[in-house]
Amino acid sequence: MKLNRQLVLLFLAALLPLVVLSAVLGAGALRQGQRAMVSDAQDRVSDLAAGVGRELDAQVQVLQTVTQSPMMDGKIDEARYDQMAERLLRSRPLWRALTLSDPQGQRLMDYPLLPGAVPRKVIDKASQSEAARTGRPVIGQILSPPRLRPAFVIFAPVVRDGRVVYVLDAVMEPGALRNLLLSNRLPSGWRAGVIDRSFRIVTRTIPPDAAGSPIDPDARAAMVRSPAGFYRAMGWDKTPLVVAYRILPGSGWSVHVAMPRAMYEAPFRRALWLVGLGAATSLMIVILFMWLLARELRIRHKEAAAQEEGRRLEGLGRITGGVAHDFNNLLMIIQGSAELLKRRVGDERAGALVDAILAAGQRGQTLTRQLLAFGRRSSHQPVSFRLQDRIEALETLLKQSVPAEVAVGLEVPPTAWPIHADPDALEMALLNLAVNARDAMPDGGQLKVAASNAVLLRGRDDGTGLRGEFVALSVADTGVGIPQDRLLQVFEPFYTTKPPGKGTGLGLSQVYGFANQSNGAVTIRSRSGEGTTVTLYLPRGTTAAVQAPRTRPADAQRECGRVVLVEDNPDVAEVTQAMLSALGYTVSRFSDASTALEALEAGEVADVLVSDIALGPAMSGLELAQRVQESRPDLSIVLMTGYSEALASGVSHGFPVLAKPFGQVQVAEIIRRAREARSDAAPSEATAPIAG
Ligand SMILES: Nc1ncnc2c1ncn2[C@@H]1O[C@H](COP(=O)(O)OP(=O)(O)OP(=O)(O)O)[C@@H](O)[C@H]1O
Ligand SMILES: [Mg+2]
Repeated sequence: MKLNRQLVLLFLAALLPLVVLSAVLGAGALRQGQRAMVSDAQDRVSDLAAGVGRELDAQVQVLQTVTQSPMMDGKIDEARYDQMAERLLRSRPLWRALTLSDPQGQRLMDYPLLPGAVPRKVIDKASQSEAARTGRPVIGQILSPPRLRPAFVIFAPVVRDGRVVYVLDAVMEPGALRNLLLSNRLPSGWRAGVIDRSFRIVTRTIPPDAAGSPIDPDARAAMVRSPAGFYRAMGWDKTPLVVAYRILPGSGWSVHVAMPRAMYEAPFRRALWLVGLGAATSLMIVILFMWLLARELRIRHKEAAAQEEGRRLEGLGRITGGVAHDFNNLLMIIQGSAELLKRRVGDERAGALVDAILAAGQRGQTLTRQLLAFGRRSSHQPVSFRLQDRIEALETLLKQSVPAEVAVGLEVPPTAWPIHADPDALEMALLNLAVNARDAMPDGGQLKVAASNAVLLRGRDDGTGLRGEFVALSVADTGVGIPQDRLLQVFEPFYTTKPPGKGTGLGLSQVYGFANQSNGAVTIRSRSGEGTTVTLYLPRGTTAAVQAPRTRPADAQRECGRVVLVEDNPDVAEVTQAMLSALGYTVSRFSDASTALEALEAGEVADVLVSDIALGPAMSGLELAQRVQESRPDLSIVLMTGYSEALASGVSHGFPVLAKPFGQVQVAEIIRRAREARSDAAPSEATAPIAG
């Protein structure tokens, strides 16, 4: 929960500056883009307005020149007027007619008479009156009579002696203005138009011509407000537009340049798009980093928890291992003595009591073995072997440990590496796991054991804390599962949820101790009601498959020969001596290594040396064994110990080692094996002493 809050804060901290930055950058880019577009439109409007203004001024000037000609003095001769008008119209192709009217608006002369004109009545009376009233030229409004080409009229007063005597007007087509608009190469999609002072379209670049149509009220409102600026409008083709305009001084006409709103807003959209893209990318990167971080933190968290748990179990292991070891010595004495006693008592009831002692001792021995296993002090003899070679034995083991309702699957692919572990302890671990699975599936289910190769890298989320090549052996059931909060406890010795007498809580402790003692690890995954998977990671063994040593059952045949027994614990020595005697050996007992060595070097007759490993500070059993091996190569040597470390060192020096506590059968078997090995190695030397 706390972790999540931290992550959210971190996320916001990373994201906020990004958002602000992209917003600022985006807004900046947007403003710049739109400003460029606006200033482009303004430039074009200015250019066009100047052009249109010049064009109109030129027409007005021509007309004004005519008004000043002497022909206009006094009474005007109609024939001369027509002559002049004809000449003029020929030189100005866009002029359609030249009309003379009196200041009151009565048409006096026409050249030519325009079709549709009402006799004597001037066209665009309002503009004509204005020209007559002000004495200044006026550009009239656009006219689009039906079936005729649109036109507009320019009025120029004929002033004589400060008085307007006539008004001369020229009817013109707006085609020249359209050509002017077209000459400014507008960007594609843009359009331009000229509007008269009564807010009607004079001409525009895109068809249809629509001359005389009134313009949008919004445009009108804008023009009333200011002589130049912008407004938004809808084009005749339903294109939303942004329009820049400028009113020409004098005439009241205006020039408009429109760009599609989509184009005007394109920078905005582009900026938005860029910001969106940037934001999405940053968001993705931030999320990725957060995810990696969260994963890292989770792994660290898990690792720390696993380490803590490991330390706790290790401490527990030391205590249990230590206690179990001391108990072993006691059990050794109890069991050994009881075994010997059993042969001596004739009384049946006493025999039954001794049997009870033996059985209890046996149970105690089982218990201490399990505790030692958890404390990693088992008498492990790890070897390299291939699971594939033991598949039948494993299958039998699994099938025998679960009832028929449980389907058993065992998968060991041919490519699985060999493992390095104690095969017997592995069998024990699998048995414990199978029994747990059985108990978890009272109504049947599936038990699946699968091996796979695993290359572990520390820091990965595998919960092992290991690094290197391992074989992962997983045991999965479909049983009741284990609630999350109990998962850490299940490896503790004596942790059980089973009713008294059903479980001791030492099964998983053995599995844990075995995995650790094998330099591997064990993980457990489970959820209430969803089954459990326990995975053993065992180190990869050497490729040369080595078969595990198989113990042969001891035969009951009586042994003979002489044993030198070195043991510093008098009780253990007593029991061991009794066992050896019962087996038929003659025993010479020593309580320390040096005395035993002296005796042997002095020629003590012996076939076998049986020595404890931990013999006090002066000389260890292992040292004694090595010295005796040199000086008396004829002797078979067997070591004993209750410590797994000592056991391992003894084994690594090539001596057979007897793990305490042991019974008569085990001691007989190991001595027999040692003697066999001796005779195999050096037959000529070995035969003599044994025979003697
Ligand atoms: N496969 C499993 N499914 C459900 N719960 C399990 C499983 N394996 C172990 N447990 C739980 O973990 C506890 C400890 O298991 P462990 O094997 O150490 O002891 P036990 O089975 O109770 O006794 P023992 O194995 O000594 O007979 C069990 O009592 C059980 O609650
Ligand atoms: Mg169990």
